[in-house]
Formats: sequence, structure tokens, C-alpha cells
Amino acid sequence: MEITGKTKIMFVLADPIGHVRASAVLNAYFRSIDDDVAVSPLHVLPADLGAVLASIRLMRNVVGFGVTIPHKTSVIEYLDEATPEVALIGAVNFVKRTADGRLVGDNLDARGFVASLAQHRIAVRGRKVLQVGAGGAGRATAFGLAGAGTRELTIMNRDEAKARALAAAVSRRYPGTKVSAGHAEARSFDLIVNTTSLGMKIDDPLPLDLEGVGPGAAVSDIIVTPEVTPLLARAATQGARTVGGRPMLDAQMVLVAKFIAR
Ligand code: ATR
Repeated sequence: MEITGKTKIMFVLADPIGHVRASAVLNAYFRSIDDDVAVSPLHVLPADLGAVLASIRLMRNVVGFGVTIPHKTSVIEYLDEATPEVALIGAVNFVKRTADGRLVGDNLDARGFVASLAQHRIAVRGRKVLQVGAGGAGRATAFGLAGAGTRELTIMNRDEAKARALAAAVSRRYPGTKVSAGHAEARSFDLIVNTTSLGMKIDDPLPLDLEGVGPGAAVSDIIVTPEVTPLLARAATQGARTVGGRPMLDAQMVLVAKFIAR
């Protein structure tokens, strides 16, 4: 693709920068929909974030930027506006730059996650879900699940205090969902979701025991690489339906394109 004066420019802000893949995924997506957008990683140190954002406001062909580690929370204070998701999740992963240089932050993780389940015909409304993990990503999926009508949500985490705090926050926002924290057996759930980092490294243990989980259940793992984690491989051998992290990322590309077009 040729980058010209008409090309809409996007960035992905990160530190360190070497591991950033979102720019490549975004570029491939915009090429696939024939949209004239080019995305570059931008190495920004935490101390420079304010100055960089002030500059981006002045860059008139910039339409937005992705935000990743370590800027997902610190970016919030520099925004002109943020969506309700940002307040709930406490983090931003995409910022739109409006034509007049305003910065509007959003967090697309929750909607991307729910959309990826819907695409795989995995029902959430009225179902019983077990989520492992209560970190940044887990916060987004928990609010996403409750917002999509999960009947019962159990959050299990190594650090139980974090699971309890997240369960309380989700339950306050979505009182219609019965949310609890603690250890549970996977076999009694319709959907099991891994949001921990266990499965990224080759010698990681499984994040939970899938004993008794079979064809009636679905297992989701939001890890993007590897595309099939050991948890998903095990779930598939037991006949459960599975969905990985890549569809969640792909769903967010569609949301980014819609967000900047608005
Ligand atoms: P992210 O933004 O990717 O969610 P995070 O906020 O650091 O990253 O959260 C990582 C999640 O993986 C947490 O739920 C973490 O559990 P703790 O809250 O107890 O730290 C979980 N996690 C990471 N390494 C783990 C391990 N070795 N065993 C169990 N859980 C682990």
C-alpha cells in the first residue's frame, strides 16, 4: 500500500516497543477492507506520554492510536472524553483523535470479547460462566460477560482478594448477574474463560482443571499467541467448543474502524 497525503495515520503507543504486534494486525485489517489507513508503532516512555499526546493533537492527519503497556491507565488523565467502558474497566486501549484535535478514549476489550463469542455461536445470556483471572484483561471480560447477560459469573484467581474486588465491582454495575469469587469445579459451567497469562509459555501449567467438561460446554482462552493454548487443546479433545484470543482481537479491528468513522 502506498502512504500518501490522503492516508489516515494511526499509531500504537508502547514501551517496550519490540513486542508490539497490534500495528501489523491493524494494517492487515485496513488493507483487507481497502481503507487508506497506515499504522505505525510509536515508542513512548511513560514520562513523555503527556508531551507526545499534546503533539498528536496537532497532527491533523492522525485519526487515532492504540494504547498498550504501560500506558493503558496513565493515558486517561490526558483525554478530553472517555466512554463508560473506560470508567468501568479503568483502562483505555484505543483513542480517537477527532478532526478538531480532541482525544476520545475507549476500551474495546469487553465488546471485542463478547463479539468473538457471538461469532462462534457461544451463548452468554442466561448462562453460567467460570472466569479464571482477575487482572486487566479479566476486568474487561468480566464486565463484558455481565453486560451481555450472564446469569452467574464465578471469578477464580490466584490472588483471591483481586477476584473478590472484581466480583464486587461487577455485581454493583450489573446486579442482575449473580457474581461470586472463589474456587469452583469447571464441570458445572456452560462457559469457561481463561484470562490469566498461563498458556503463553510452553511449560505453563493449565490455568484450571477441565475434568468433566464435555460437549455441552465451551472454553475460551483470550491468549493470542499461541493460537491454540494447551487449555484449548485439552478442551477440544474433551469435545467442548473452543474459541481463542485472535477472534477477540479481530473483532476489535472492526470496532476501531467504526469508532474512527463516527
Ligand atoms: P493482563 O492485563 O494481561 O490481564 P495482569 O493484569 O498482570 O495482566 O493479570 C494477569 C492475570 O494472570 C492475573 O489474574 C494473575 O493472577 P494474580 O492476580 O494472582 O497475579 C494471573 N496469573 C499470572 N501468572 C499466574 C500464575 N503463574 N498462576 C496463576 N495465575 C497467574
